[in-house]
Amino acid sequence: MTASALNLRPISGSIGAEISNVDLSQPLGNAEQDAIHDALLDKHVLVFRGQELTPQKQVDIARLFGQPAIYPFLKGLDGTPEVNELLKTEEDEINFGGSWHSDTAYKARPDMGTLLYALEVPDAGGDTLFANMQRAYEALSNGMKEMLDELIAVYSSEKGYGGNRAAHMKSLDGLKSAVPTNIESFESEHPVVRTHPSTGRKSLYVSRSHTLRFKNMTEAESAPLINYLSDFATRPEFTCRLRWEPKTLAIWDNRCTNHFAISDYAGKRRQMHRVTIEGDRPI
Ligand code: SIN
Repeated sequence: MTASALNLRPISGSIGAEISNVDLSQPLGNAEQDAIHDALLDKHVLVFRGQELTPQKQVDIARLFGQPAIYPFLKGLDGTPEVNELLKTEEDEINFGGSWHSDTAYKARPDMGTLLYALEVPDAGGDTLFANMQRAYEALSNGMKEMLDELIAVYSSEKGYGGNRAAHMKSLDGLKSAVPTNIESFESEHPVVRTHPSTGRKSLYVSRSHTLRFKNMTEAESAPLINYLSDFATRPEFTCRLRWEPKTLAIWDNRCTNHFAISDYAGKRRQMHRVTIEGDRPI
C-alpha cells in the first residue's frame, strides 16, 4: 500500500486528513504502516473514525510511531499506565488542554506525537483545533525568519498555572483520580524554530501555554513576540477543526503542530483516552 492507496480526505487546505479505509483494531502490514507514517508527515493530523480500541490497543498503535510515554502530571490507567483518561464531567468548569500548545514542550525531549481516542463526546462542542506550525513559519517575512532562526526559548510546565501545576490539574473534577508524580515542574530550552527530523522542514515552536521567555530576556520583554507569533500561527488559514464522534482516534505530530481543546460544552461530559509518544531533543 502506498500513501495514495489510503482513502484520505483533507480536513482543511493546510492541515489534517481523515482516513476511512484502515481498521486499526487489526494488525497492520508494513506497507500500510509506511503509508500512515507518510500521511502523518504530510498532513500532521490523521483522523480515523469508528475504531474499536481498548487502552492496550491504543498503546500498541502508539508503538508503531515510537515509545509510549508516561505523562508526568496524571496517573495512567491501571494496567496501561501510558493511557491517561481525560474526563470532563457535567460539573467541571475547566478542561484539559484548553489553550494553544504542543504537548510537553517543556520536557528536554518533548513527546513527538499524541493519540487521542474519544469514548464519549457532547452532542455539540468539545472540538479540537490544530495549527500547522510549518505553514506559519513559512509565511513569515524573511527578516523575521532570520531573527527567529537564532532564538532559543525557555519552555515551562508552570506557565499559566501560577505554580504547582499538578495540584491545579487535580482540581479538575474528572481528573480527581490523578496522583501527581513527585516531579512538580519542568523547564527546558529549545530553538524557537525547530527542524523536523524526518522532513527537514522548519516550523515555529512557540506557544502562549508553554513558552515562558526567550533565553537571556525577561518574561516582560519576551511576551509581545511570543504573543504575536502565537496569534500569527493560529490564523484560520493555518488551522483545521476536528469534530469528535465516539470511537474517533486522532494522531498528531507535536513537532510541527499546536492544538487547542475547546471548552464550550458546560454541563456535558467528554471522555477521552490519551497516549503520547516519546520524542527527540528539538534541533
Ligand atoms: C490535549 O491537549 O492533549 C487534549 C486535547 C483534547 O482533549 O482535545
